[in-house]
Amino acid sequence: MSDTSHEFEAHDFFRSDRFVNDPYPYFDYLREQSPVLREPHHGIVMVTGYAEALEIYNDPVRFSSCMSTTGPFAGCPIPLEEHKNEDISELIEAWRDKTPFHDQLPTMDPPNHTAHRSLLMSLITPRRLKENEDFMWKLADEQIDTFISRGACEFMDAFAQPFAVLVVSDLLGVPPEDRTEFRKHLIRVERESGGAVVGGTDGEVTHGPLIFLYEKFSAYIEDRRRNPRADVLTGLAQATFPDGSVPEPIDVARIAANMFAAGQETTVRLLSYAFQLIGERPEIQQRLRADRSLIPNFVEECLRTEGPVKGDFRLAKMPTSIGGVEIPAGTFLFIANGAANRDSRRFENPAEFQLDRKNARLHVGFGAGRHACPGAPLARAETVVALNRMFDRTSDIRISETVHGPAGARRYSYLPTFILRGLTHISLEFDPVEAG
Ligand code: HEM
Repeated sequence: MSDTSHEFEAHDFFRSDRFVNDPYPYFDYLREQSPVLREPHHGIVMVTGYAEALEIYNDPVRFSSCMSTTGPFAGCPIPLEEHKNEDISELIEAWRDKTPFHDQLPTMDPPNHTAHRSLLMSLITPRRLKENEDFMWKLADEQIDTFISRGACEFMDAFAQPFAVLVVSDLLGVPPEDRTEFRKHLIRVERESGGAVVGGTDGEVTHGPLIFLYEKFSAYIEDRRRNPRADVLTGLAQATFPDGSVPEPIDVARIAANMFAAGQETTVRLLSYAFQLIGERPEIQQRLRADRSLIPNFVEECLRTEGPVKGDFRLAKMPTSIGGVEIPAGTFLFIANGAANRDSRRFENPAEFQLDRKNARLHVGFGAGRHACPGAPLARAETVVALNRMFDRTSDIRISETVHGPAGARRYSYLPTFILRGLTHISLEFDPVEAG
C-alpha cells in the first residue's frame, strides 16, 4: 500500500474536511481500485465510474432515491441490517414517512415521484423559460450596475446570490413587491447554514428556508385559487396532477420550495467557478470574449470538471450487483458525479479543462434518469447570460490578488459539505467599459 493510499483510507470522505479543498485525487484513487467500491468508514458504496453511475441513475426499480440528499447521515429509521438478502421495497414504503425530507421531490420514488415531477414540469414550460431568460438579461445588467464602477467585487454577494434568488423568484411568479423579502431571507439563511441545506461534514439538516417558502407559497396558492389573476402564480394554483386531481396548496408549495432549495446554492457555485476560471485562465477569457458562441460549451466543461453537486445517494432495494460488485439490499451508494465526470473511459484527459471538448455535455453534473435536474436549462442560461453581460461591461476580469494571493499561490476556500462542491467566496477585479 502506498503512502497516499494509506492516507486516503484513513480519512472519512463524509465526516472529515480532508477532501474539501480537492476531492478529485481521492475520487481517482477510488476509481483506480474499482469504479464501484465500499468505503471503510460507513460501508457506503462509492460509485466513481461513469457507466456505473448511469446504470444506477436509470434504474429506480433496484435503487431508491429515499434519503438521496442525506444518505444515512441525518439518521436512517429503516431497520436495514436484518434484510440484506431480501427485496426491501415494501419495507422502505412502510418507513418512508419517517425518513428525512420524505416529502421532498428528490427523495420520492415512482409512482409518487412521477406525479409530483409532472406538477413541477408543468411550471417550466418552454414559454415560461423564454420569458425567464428575457428577465435574466435585464436583471444581470441591473445587478452589475450596483458594483461595476468600483472595479472590484466579491462576486457571490454582489452578483451570484441575488441573481440566483431573483431568477427563480421570477420563474415562479413571486410578486415584485415580495422579492426583496425573498432575497433577504434566503441569502441570510444561506449564510447561517454555511451554504448547505444538507450535507455538511456533520450531516446537519436545515429546515429554515423550507418553512419560509412553504408559508409564502401556500398563502399565494390559496389566494390565487380564491382570486385568479393573469399571473404565473395563478398558473401554479391551477396546475393539476397527471390524473387530473387537484394538489393541496402545500404540495405546490413544496415544489416551489424545492426549486429554491435545489436551484440556489448550486447555481451560485457554478457561476462562481465560471468566473474563477476566466480569472485564472486569461487565454480562455480572451477566446470567449472574441467568440461568444463558445460560451455554452465552456459552461458544460465547467459542469463536467467542477460540477456543484459532488454526488447523490441511492439505497439498494434488493440484492444486486453493479460493475461486477455484489450489493446487498439496504446498501447506501454514493453516486459521485464529480468522479464519474472525470472517468477516462468516457472523457479523454479528464482532468484537463478543454474549451472545445466535443462530448462535454455528456457529463452527469445534473444527474440522469427520472430525477435529472429540471433546473438545468435555468442554470445554464443564468451562467451564459452572466458571462455575456460581464464581458459586455468589462474589458478584463481578474482574480483579486489582495484577497486570493498571487497566481501560482492562490488561496481559495471551499464549502465544507460532502454534497456541494464550490467556493465560499470569490473576489474579482475588472476594467469597466462605458455602456455602448
Ligand atoms: C448548476 C446548477 C445545478 C446543479 C449542478 C444541479 C444538480 C442537480 C442534480 C445532480 C440533481 C439530481 C439529484 C438526484 O438524482 O438525486 C438535481 C435535481 C433537482 N434540481 Fe438541480 N441543479 C442545479 C440547478 C437547479 C436549478 C436552477 C433548479 C430550479 C430552479 C434545480 C432544481 C432541482 C430539483 C427540483 C431537483 C429534484 C428533481 C427530482 O427529484 O425529480 N436545480 N439537480
